[in-house]
Amino acid sequence: MSLPSDFLWGFATAAYQVEGATQQDGRGATIWDTFCAIPGKIADGTDGSVACDSYNRTAEDIALLKRLGATCYRFSLSWSRIIPLGGRNDPVNQAGIDHYVKFVDDLLEAGIVPFITLLHWDVPDELDKRYGGLLNRQEFPLDFENYARVVFKSIPKCKNWITFNEPWCSSILGYSTGFFAPGHTSNRAKSAIGDSSREPWIVGHNLLVAHGRAVKVYRDEFKPADKGEIGITLNGDYTYPWDPEDPRDVEAANRKIEFAISWFADPIYFGKYPDSMRKQLGDRLPEFTPEELALVQGSNDFYGMNHYTADYVKHGDGNPAPEDFLGDLSTHPYSKSGDCIGPETQSFWLRPNPEGFRGLLNWLSKRYGYPNIYVTENGTSILGENDLKEPEILNDEFRYKYFYDYVNAMAKAVSEDGCNVKGYMAWSLMDNFEWAEGYETRFGVTYVNYADGQQRKEKYSAKKMKEIFDAVIEK
Ligand code: NOJ
Repeated sequence: MSLPSDFLWGFATAAYQVEGATQQDGRGATIWDTFCAIPGKIADGTDGSVACDSYNRTAEDIALLKRLGATCYRFSLSWSRIIPLGGRNDPVNQAGIDHYVKFVDDLLEAGIVPFITLLHWDVPDELDKRYGGLLNRQEFPLDFENYARVVFKSIPKCKNWITFNEPWCSSILGYSTGFFAPGHTSNRAKSAIGDSSREPWIVGHNLLVAHGRAVKVYRDEFKPADKGEIGITLNGDYTYPWDPEDPRDVEAANRKIEFAISWFADPIYFGKYPDSMRKQLGDRLPEFTPEELALVQGSNDFYGMNHYTADYVKHGDGNPAPEDFLGDLSTHPYSKSGDCIGPETQSFWLRPNPEGFRGLLNWLSKRYGYPNIYVTENGTSILGENDLKEPEILNDEFRYKYFYDYVNAMAKAVSEDGCNVKGYMAWSLMDNFEWAEGYETRFGVTYVNYADGQQRKEKYSAKKMKEIFDAVIEK
């Protein structure tokens, strides 16, 4: 059981979650700045204005990555630092560009391969106000294309690009449940958490087209002949049928993956939305124009995989509920009792199930023809971790075990099942702003003491990561 000698491993973060410095060097506002200011949206009433202050601590963060032995680092750019108002006719902010150019130079100098996410949810606020942001089928893809071109031109030394992070979350959490910015709930009259009537499917469609536009720009204008890869990062759990003997549960389990992953991956790899989605959503799911399809189909050089847990899924009878974005009336994202070992995780979607990781790697590989895969996020958060103080909070053996088991399951998927996984980035390098959960939920391998000068201290899992990978990567 092993991983190839050129396998990359490291950690991931995102701009709004770690950078802070939201008023510095000409940065424009994002939909997350606006959303956080609405009372009740963030559990602890906080926002990302200070976060881990990574914008001002790049040297410290790179030194940390080096100390941990990481060979790659995934981070996102703040679009509104680069084009504060976001649009293709709006001014570019050189200070923002200079910041990221230097960061990439410093990472490379330290021997760490940068993986850049162009947009990790923090859409420039002005675009939302100007024309509805992600909802605008004409404007948004063109503005994203322009932003991507500015970035590719400015940072030619980066060879690994991710267009979007988890478009499922932008669409469903941003435009159906309203848990995330910009907080739309499609139709509260129909369902307590907002239904999934039309907006999320329009947003998903526009993100796919915008992704396709950025990929085309990269390939046509910037991609070096020998190197340079671009893809999209999708989130998705593995699913087990509640009753493996019941074909309806087997189908529902598959359908749930299709509603999470194939929603985006089928158009990219096959040029169409999954039949299960078309059947359930009808004309709520947009149709691709021929021009859009030409942009989207074939637009992944690799598959970016964010993965955390596995679910049991039970089929539903009757018509789908208004919040039918899970793919079925009664998909069941909770564990059967007894299958979660160890302390409780912060939420049901963080329960460890390493077999499910191997299962999903195989599911993806079979369905999409064994593409190159980068695991762009994987990790867990422990219930009550935030209540601990030093030194207890540094003893995250549970997180270490999670990583150990998941990395070993991945190594089996590679060496025994033939999956083409090329790299792995743990979520996250350090505790940070966990969106609607604020700072109460901690995901870091490094503890951040927000109250005391933003000190970073490695937890047990951070110190063990290199050992985990040294044991499975071929010399
Ligand atoms: C998904 C997101 O990409 C990331 O921003 C988030 O913090 C982690 N998973 C954990 O929830």
